[in-house]
Amino acid sequence: MSNRLSRMIKPSDGKSVMLACDHGYFMGPTHNLENPRKTIEPIIPYADTLSVTRGVLRSSVDPKWDTPILLRVSGGASVLNDDLSNEEITTSMKDAARLNVAAVAISIFVGTAHEKQSLVNLSKLVDEGEDYGIPVMAITAVGKELEKRDAKYLALATRLGAEIGAKVVKTYYCENFSKVANGCPVPVVVAGGPKLKTEADIFNLVYNALDEGAIGVDMGRNIWQNEHPVAVIKAIRAIVHENATVKEAQQVFEDNKKSIKAELEN
Ligand code: R5P
Repeated sequence: MSNRLSRMIKPSDGKSVMLACDHGYFMGPTHNLENPRKTIEPIIPYADTLSVTRGVLRSSVDPKWDTPILLRVSGGASVLNDDLSNEEITTSMKDAARLNVAAVAISIFVGTAHEKQSLVNLSKLVDEGEDYGIPVMAITAVGKELEKRDAKYLALATRLGAEIGAKVVKTYYCENFSKVANGCPVPVVVAGGPKLKTEADIFNLVYNALDEGAIGVDMGRNIWQNEHPVAVIKAIRAIVHENATVKEAQQVFEDNKKSIKAELEN
């Protein structure tokens, strides 16, 4: 279990840049993730972990790549349904072990009609993970209700995930985020959510989340829906692993944008 966790969260600094590409499990061929391999291949060298479903792992991830895998194992709803909370476990722990993943991830939907179901699903997954030595990440999902992302709600949902046995919790950044991170006894990473307006918005989110107690990010759309995904992830890495400021991250972004453009033109 510890060995798997230290593959995802770098033991040198206890931080992690996870690349989230698991959106298709309920969103289908999301913008810029229509062809998962094409999206993932250029960015993966800069990710400490890759989050995908088993379908994308099998079809689009080269087994020779050595980036640890965080396997999404919950699902059962699609964007066509207003209520996204009716999820079950969709991949067995036996298959997760066979796929040699570093951890599995499951959404919990606190405060919804399927609150109990999702929390019991998490507890079952944690029990099975103990048998195989596979850590579980709980994701405090809000479905379409993005306005739910406040400190009071996220602190509750995050803590519930940890209490049931998640080894890591993924949640959202929010105002007073330290209330969320401080109330959670296991490491917390933040998702990015829908595409933000500017790169500075992304770097501010990452900087503030880390400053207020997150150990990293598990971010998707704000990386691969950007015109310069490699430059964005490199700038995020600078904040997470090198304590860069927002200004320094912006400079990393601009420098990489230029050098990648020059490489393409040559
Ligand atoms: C939802 O599909 C997943 O939990 C995503 O992995 C999570 O929301 C992170 O991706 P994004 O940064 O695009 O929100």
